[in-house]
Amino acid sequence: MSKIFIGVAWPYANGPIHVGHMAGCNLPPDIFRRYHIMRGNEVLMVSGSDMHGTPVTVRAEKEGLRPEELAEKYHQLNVKAFDDFGVKFTEFHSTEDPDHIAIVQKLFLRLHETGHLYEKEMELPFCSKCDRTLPDRYVEGECPFCHYENARGDQCEECGKLMDPDLLINLRCTTCGSTPEFVKRNHFFFKLSALEEPLKKWMADKDYWRPHVLNFSRMFLEGGLKDRPVTRDTTYGIKIPIDGHDDKRIYVWFEAFMGYYTMAVKWAMDENGNLDQAKLDSFWKNPDCKHYYFLGKDNIPFHTIFWPAVVSALEWDLNLPYDVPANAFLKFGGQQFSKSRGVSVSIKDIVEEYDPDAMRYYMATTMPENRDADFTWEDFVTRNNSELVATYGNFVHRTLSFTQKNFGEIPDAPLNPEAEKAIKSALEEVAQHIEKCEFKMGIKRAMELARFGNQYIDAQAPWKQLKASREDCAATLYTSICISKALAIIFAPYLPFSSQKLWNALGEDGQIYEASWEDALVPPKSGTKLERPEPMFKKLDPPKKDEPVDEPQKEPKMTLDKLDLRIGKVIEANDHPNADKLIVLNVSLGQENRQLCAGLKEHYSLEEFVGKNIVVVCNLKPAKLRGIMSEGMLLAASEGDVVSLLLPPESAEPGTQLDGTTKAKQIEFPDFLKYTLEVGHDGYAGAIIGSKFIPFTVDGKNIGTDKNLGPGAKIK
Ligand code: MF3
Ligand code: ZN
Repeated sequence: MSKIFIGVAWPYANGPIHVGHMAGCNLPPDIFRRYHIMRGNEVLMVSGSDMHGTPVTVRAEKEGLRPEELAEKYHQLNVKAFDDFGVKFTEFHSTEDPDHIAIVQKLFLRLHETGHLYEKEMELPFCSKCDRTLPDRYVEGECPFCHYENARGDQCEECGKLMDPDLLINLRCTTCGSTPEFVKRNHFFFKLSALEEPLKKWMADKDYWRPHVLNFSRMFLEGGLKDRPVTRDTTYGIKIPIDGHDDKRIYVWFEAFMGYYTMAVKWAMDENGNLDQAKLDSFWKNPDCKHYYFLGKDNIPFHTIFWPAVVSALEWDLNLPYDVPANAFLKFGGQQFSKSRGVSVSIKDIVEEYDPDAMRYYMATTMPENRDADFTWEDFVTRNNSELVATYGNFVHRTLSFTQKNFGEIPDAPLNPEAEKAIKSALEEVAQHIEKCEFKMGIKRAMELARFGNQYIDAQAPWKQLKASREDCAATLYTSICISKALAIIFAPYLPFSSQKLWNALGEDGQIYEASWEDALVPPKSGTKLERPEPMFKKLDPPKKDEPVDEPQKEPKMTLDKLDLRIGKVIEANDHPNADKLIVLNVSLGQENRQLCAGLKEHYSLEEFVGKNIVVVCNLKPAKLRGIMSEGMLLAASEGDVVSLLLPPESAEPGTQLDGTTKAKQIEFPDFLKYTLEVGHDGYAGAIIGSKFIPFTVDGKNIGTDKNLGPGAKIK
């Protein structure tokens, strides 16, 4: 038995938990937690409502409430939403919790004592009209890195860079719109710079992290670490436990993550507040206890840099994160879910309308583990109807109802050895996926066992066997019941509600998640009476087309989804009749063929083109080149005189969309030129969006260049 610590990013208590949070930050740790409990491991999973900071005060002003009131309102709402959705924490409180506050102050003093906090004068934006200094989200301006116009004072949402108000271009006060001046104030700084080297060493062996998390974090470290102010001019938040600072509070981003520790302390205290140090240490100082943190990609630097820095700076030999499986974003119609911008589907609404397992299933199968994913109602309904209902639900229902009708109980028969093998390998592989935080692959593998079950029952045809040999029929049904039991177990981390129902329908008592993973192989007891089964899942009606489903307002943004990039296969290559340097290609895009003109005559022979897979920009406005229509553009990279085609994997089917790109509406050539496309440091092609390099991938595979051009080669 081992111990697992799970920290879940603390949601701001400034709005209801929505689908984006759930799929990004909360469902994954819940799957992980349930799985580990079934493996007999001890899990401590903590989080709470992040009640301080400007996200809360800004919202409170809008709703006309005091920040405490607003935070408490959403805290209550979100506690219920988590519970209804089956996400359970060992400890879930808030940053207003008296224990949290007391421990944060203790940690603050400790950091002061270890020399990691010092006081320094800094410049802050001050709005003379509003008569106050403006923290974080009270200022907006243009991001100096990606030039997104509405970057906030704490972070640019577009490119993820952390911000300081003085970096923003055209700074403005979000309350009144006027331009702030800078004034000098004394604040506490955390000596992050001193931890750059130790953090680099610590990160050196984290190759098992998700690539996007590791790349982001390593780039962040490469950029150099600066000391950061960790107090703010405000009277809402946690007081500084040092005299003479009543007009300041501890910065929300400096205290909320301390909640990972404060909640563990709380858990290790008895009712009288006495701490059981050994209990706490068994999770926080035990080298065998792995710490996992689940969060959205915008929170990566706080968890892979600042929090580990603070943990080390305490100099108590506390455990550092083992893995930080951050998710990308689940978008809604291509837009980021955002409470503050009103693009949102709340969990409260979901559980009122749907079976939580149906939504958990959809989220688990579309989880944005390595790149952004899109939430659509159509997709949700399709997956529910064609997978959950038609495959898993159907198999179990056929098995139980046929057995109940004809035998009334679990028959006494042997388990088919093929099926036993299938169960064993499914158990093993799903376990491996979950342990590696590959939740999407895990649930897909679990569904394969249900598919196997259906194939098995179809092949055996127990309805025929019943007449020919009751014994054979019993064997088929017994085997199907064994598969059903295994399905209840392997789906339990993902679909706790339906697994529980199935568990009881199979005559097993108690809570399924108190059963162990290995119980999947314990034969169900023959002779157990069966009740008439209810279908486990409900078919859903597709969303009606004429009903506008919460169309979010469009906001122009630079993302790959405005590009329509697809794989094309060259069918034919000819010289251009009127131009020496041009060639004319006939390219198959699967469903359609297109004619492209390209200026690559000096770099590739006509023969070299034929049969090649290329990358085609499909939504460029068609243009006539010397009298010949070009209905798109192929992408090639150039480095000096060398020009090289992009080299998609040969296995990619013509017409396949590059990941993250969409059949977007037509763009003009100048729009296209706004994209910086180049070869990345690992030799793969991609786009620079904001200040991030987004690799081009197709079916998850990277795209290199034909002639192996080096980093920095420009793509046109
Ligand atoms: N409240 C923050 C957000 O929603 C996350 C805080 S995570 C913690 O983005 F580490 F600070 F707790
Ligand atoms: Zn930016």
